[in-house]
Amino acid sequence: MNVHATALAETHHLDEPTSAFAQDVIEDLSRAPKRLSPKYFYDAAGSELFEQITVLPEYYPTRTELSILRDHATAISAIIPDGAALVEFGAGATTKVRLLLGACRLSAYVPVDISGDFLRAQAQALRTDYPALRVYPVTADFTAPFELPEAVGNMPKVGFFPGSTLGNFEPGEACTFLKNARAILGQGARMIIGVDLEKDERTLYEAYNDRAGITARFNLNVLHRINRELGGDFDVGAFIHRAIYNRDRHRIEMHLISKKALTAEVLGQKFSFRPGESIHTENSYKYSIERFALLARVSGWRLLETWTDREGMFSVHALASAD
Ligand code: AVJ
Repeated sequence: MNVHATALAETHHLDEPTSAFAQDVIEDLSRAPKRLSPKYFYDAAGSELFEQITVLPEYYPTRTELSILRDHATAISAIIPDGAALVEFGAGATTKVRLLLGACRLSAYVPVDISGDFLRAQAQALRTDYPALRVYPVTADFTAPFELPEAVGNMPKVGFFPGSTLGNFEPGEACTFLKNARAILGQGARMIIGVDLEKDERTLYEAYNDRAGITARFNLNVLHRINRELGGDFDVGAFIHRAIYNRDRHRIEMHLISKKALTAEVLGQKFSFRPGESIHTENSYKYSIERFALLARVSGWRLLETWTDREGMFSVHALASAD
């Protein structure tokens, strides 16, 4: 935390996660162009909206990844050694890990997430349904190095990173993440990772511009969250959701666009917006199998196997540490 953020946190009596949020918001809204990190979408309201997104007719990734995990559960579990500890980066709902739990013999499950409360609730539900499984939740920002619980020290490690969350990272950050994951999981590690595939623009556009407007509410919720947690005064109704496909950069971009000139104040700092000005809130990178294979290779991993659905919408990859 920098000096400025510490002072802010003290003046406003913010706890540590809130002051990290405050620091990022103030830094990111001070930039030109303005931006906000997609990791802040997921407060209780945002997590609930995301769960609604995952079952929208236009949003193919979740259901397609689930069908790949289901259809190839046997082949995927062959990658996971008996007695392994499965480390899930950014654990949300446990639907996906349950598919693996049914197909392989894990000793431990280590869900890692910044949102501690949701994590503990999900962990408890898993313990009830799988009494033999040891569950060790870790509250951490998985984009930075963290320590695994001592109890899993001697178990073979398998990383699990479903949902194409990798797509939220810039390509360079994705490489850093994969290298960190390699270091955290250690020698001989394996990894199961879900990655959304590049495809026609219309399918992509509709997945992020659903007719029911849930994605718009999900995007706008980050402004409500700033108002709620940081005492901001954003006129949320003055912003609109925009998602576009940037083909040159292989990514969906989400923006919040100000409909008019306005000012918003957050923790005593004023931010002014021109009519039509954007806050860039998310990138969702799409990979071809070849580009993902290259990324894995330069990040210290060997690509063992790739599974896709019949239409080639989504991919699940098994990686092995290159050491
Ligand atoms: C959770 C990052 C994979 O990029 O598709 C869904 C988030 N954003 N709709 C994605 C999201 C808008 C999602 N990821």
